[in-house]
Amino acid sequence: MRDFEQYKLGIKTVDSQHQTWFDIYYELVTLVYSEKENPELLSEIIEKLHDYTHYHFQYEEKLLREISYPDLKQHKSNHKNLYASISWYKRQMEEGKIVCSERILHTMEQWILTHILVDDRKYVEYIDVKKRRELLV
Ligand SMILES: [Fe+2]
Ligand SMILES: [Fe+2]
Repeated sequence: MRDFEQYKLGIKTVDSQHQTWFDIYYELVTLVYSEKENPELLSEIIEKLHDYTHYHFQYEEKLLREISYPDLKQHKSNHKNLYASISWYKRQMEEGKIVCSERILHTMEQWILTHILVDDRKYVEYIDVKKRRELLV
């Protein structure tokens, strides 16, 4: 079990969105460990992951624009790559192709969770006290 505590950035809105990501991730973990084939559930999880990722990236990019984050271009490009990979899985499912749930789980662990720990953590110091207070309300 991964502990969400180490993924917290101290920004309430962002942390709560990352927590939702975690919840979806654990739905996938549960599915993989159940060792049962359940394409309907897998498709539901991918759909949720896809939509939520889009929502979260939009929110985060708007926030980074507001604070004039100097590395916004790179951050957006990382988001784009992550989103492209989730979209690819979604398309595969829609086309009726077999998608391995373990592979998606691996993608989430390698990319999304690492993105929070490494890339997202970098912008925290750029959010000033005032902005942080607004986001805590
Ligand atoms: Fe994020
Ligand atoms: Fe991000």
